[in-house]
Amino acid sequence: MKFFIDTADLTEIRSLASSGLLDGVTTNPSLIAKSGRKFADVIAEICEIVPGPVSAEVAGTVYDQMMAEAQVLRKIAKNVTIKVPLTPDGLRACRHLSNDGTMVNVTLCFSAAQALLAAKSGASFISPFVGRVDDIGWNGMDLIADIVQIYNNYDFRTEVLVASVRNPIHVIEAAKMGAHVATLPPAVLRSLFSHPLTDKGLAAFLADWAKTGQSIV
Ligand code: G3P
Repeated sequence: MKFFIDTADLTEIRSLASSGLLDGVTTNPSLIAKSGRKFADVIAEICEIVPGPVSAEVAGTVYDQMMAEAQVLRKIAKNVTIKVPLTPDGLRACRHLSNDGTMVNVTLCFSAAQALLAAKSGASFISPFVGRVDDIGWNGMDLIADIVQIYNNYDFRTEVLVASVRNPIHVIEAAKMGAHVATLPPAVLRSLFSHPLTDKGLAAFLADWAKTGQSIV
């Protein structure tokens, strides 16, 4: 399972990239706004830090505008993945960009039917938003299970990129279902390391080691 990080915060990206666990980065207009930086500059810097796919989302809502923006964004770096919304125009742009060999991440997916359309449009990634589905009282992980099953049935090459991840349970459930990627807020990625028995066990080992009076180097 690949781990992407869902942020435009360069300090966080640098810090987590050094862990060797990052396979890519996703951004969206809200995350770019939060960064307070110029879109193209942020994407260029992220692409230098992380060699894997870096999603940059178009702001246009009609096909011609999306394609014009995609031409600009994909020139920033080879690993830029163009992110388009799951709309008729977005999927039309997806088809054309994918045919040209550009990676496309189709975002704002909330149903298996939408995910099927994205796969048929040649998307490299489909981004179902599990947290936002949970927020309205539905089950976000049921959506992931449906999409994984449908994609497996037809050997679609589109990767299921679990987005709007809010906690480690989302990550584990997604991994159990065989989702290809999870894009994680930095805090969720860090929380995967944590277990109280690890902390307790390490404290006990260190206390006993101190009693030996030894040092390894
Ligand atoms: O980047 C898309 C998605 O991960 C957004 O998540 O937390 O805003 O629902 P969230």
